[in-house]
Amino acid sequence: MIQALQADITTLNVDAIVNAANGTLLGGGGVDGAIHQAAGPGLLEECRTLGGCETGDARLTMGYDLPARYVIHAVGPVWEGGRSGEPGLLVSCYRKSMEIALGRHFMSIAFPAISTGVYGYPVEPAARIAVEVVRDTLKASGKPMDVTFCCHSEGDLSIYKAVLNS
Ligand code: APR
Repeated sequence: MIQALQADITTLNVDAIVNAANGTLLGGGGVDGAIHQAAGPGLLEECRTLGGCETGDARLTMGYDLPARYVIHAVGPVWEGGRSGEPGLLVSCYRKSMEIALGRHFMSIAFPAISTGVYGYPVEPAARIAVEVVRDTLKASGKPMDVTFCCHSEGDLSIYKAVLNS
């Protein structure tokens, strides 16, 4: 099942929430800051052992004090106008995150709108990529997994709902 809702992703009780991280994996602002704040210091300690993450890739950690059991840290591209490979890198973020979740047989996962905040990616094209990659990977895997697109604003929610219904 694929749905969009408006919530603080740190409150969702799912197998894994996805973090919109940066390449250091050492925390930041936005959803990254909120997730580290809610997870507690154990998350940063584990992240320190990972040695960073390439843009377009993702890494798995435990969820610590979060209701979610795991966190998948995905590093999205910084929007530079759309001609520097950003779409492909964003596709890769969602694909790698889904691969990790499917590989671990997670039954539920929640994504924030990766790259659409500080990194400046326009929300609508990013939402189209998110929905398309999730739909394709679920169809290819044939595995049942509940996927939630967790929006932080009403505006983003209406964009995701429109994309899901198109
Ligand atoms: N729950 C759900 N979504 C959230 C939350 C939250 N608690 N807080 C912010 N968001 C939303 C933002 O509104 C935006 O729609 O997450 C989306 C991604 O925005 P950012 O968090 O700014 O992430 P991104 O654009 O990918 O930039 C990543 O920002 O915080 C730093 O360390 C991070 O350097 C990295 C960069």
